[in-house]
Amino acid sequence: MKKRIGVLTSGGDCAGLNTAIWGVTVSALQRGWEVIGIQDATDGLFSRPMRYRQLTMADFEFPFAALGGTMLGSNNSGNPRIQMKADGTFEELTEEELNTRFKEGVAELGLSALVVIGGDGSMAIVSKYCKIAGISMIGIPKTIDNDAPATDLAIGFSTAKNVVMEVLDKLNTTASSHNRVMIAEVMGRGAGHLALNAGVAGFADVILIPEIPYTYEGVLNQLKKNRSLGKKHGLVVIAEGIKTPDGKHSFAGNGKTFKGVSEYFAERLSNDGFNVRSNVLGHMQRAGNPVEEDRILATSYAVHAIELLERNENNRVVILKDGRISDMDLNEVLKIANTPVDPEGDMANMARSLGIYIGEK
Ligand code: F6P
Repeated sequence: MKKRIGVLTSGGDCAGLNTAIWGVTVSALQRGWEVIGIQDATDGLFSRPMRYRQLTMADFEFPFAALGGTMLGSNNSGNPRIQMKADGTFEELTEEELNTRFKEGVAELGLSALVVIGGDGSMAIVSKYCKIAGISMIGIPKTIDNDAPATDLAIGFSTAKNVVMEVLDKLNTTASSHNRVMIAEVMGRGAGHLALNAGVAGFADVILIPEIPYTYEGVLNQLKKNRSLGKKHGLVVIAEGIKTPDGKHSFAGNGKTFKGVSEYFAERLSNDGFNVRSNVLGHMQRAGNPVEEDRILATSYAVHAIELLERNENNRVVILKDGRISDMDLNEVLKIANTPVDPEGDMANMARSLGIYIGEK
């Protein structure tokens, strides 16, 4: 049966979103369906006039599916109540108005389903509106933090890992020229997947992540030990979400964003005689074109999402589990907590075996 479906991207952007939008669109078009790209996450449906565009093959002339960012725009404010009006000013909507606008919007566009490419938070919010509007929803997980519940891999993580690794390679070259310790502050919120994976691939001496407690002395001793073994420079990779060694002070900037951890360590290590420079890698970690792993993952997730809609499934999240693409009920997914690094997992143990300081057991 011919369908008209919507697709949107929600939450912090990452590489692979355009590939996922492309995958959803071409798979749907092959079935004779129509696809409406909703702009700026759900804002496209809440604002008046609505912001959307019908997607066709012409939208994906090379290289658009291979580019970073999202052609549909996104929003990670978590508050859909503030909406921009046509004249550029803002209005605040009530929850009731949001429900009504969403329902009217999907009716006007003739949508029977929405594919939400986002984090679990976005999926939870959008599914509520979809239920009220009486349309199906399928979720596709994305986050460079790779802590999305239920799935082993989220879109964006592989590329971000690569971006961080490449920056670490660069930092290592200048660190070795100057016999310096370079500190790299890496994103990830409360999860250390990005720091741990990129840190191992980038030959770090120290990797600190929120999941494993550490001591400042542990960091200092590691750098001193490596120096005594003949390594004159050092690389310290720190996940932005760690706390101070006493566990009291987190480096959260405003509760949502993080800052300051690399500076804290730079100051302490230079007081202990090291020639140190700190680097905050920042949003370049979310940028760049998707690597092969993200293109294949995004494409596989998109195809699976369309197959689910073809079978009239609703409220499902596409996941990768033990190497296989499958899906799970959204409510079940939301019951599972975000997935942190396993302190006793293979990657953590390998880092320990290599002599990298990753905190205390
Ligand atoms: O969740 C993805 C992420 O990139 C985190 O790693 C980071 O802390 C946060 O988003 C940054 O958010 P913003 O784009 O709002 O600064």
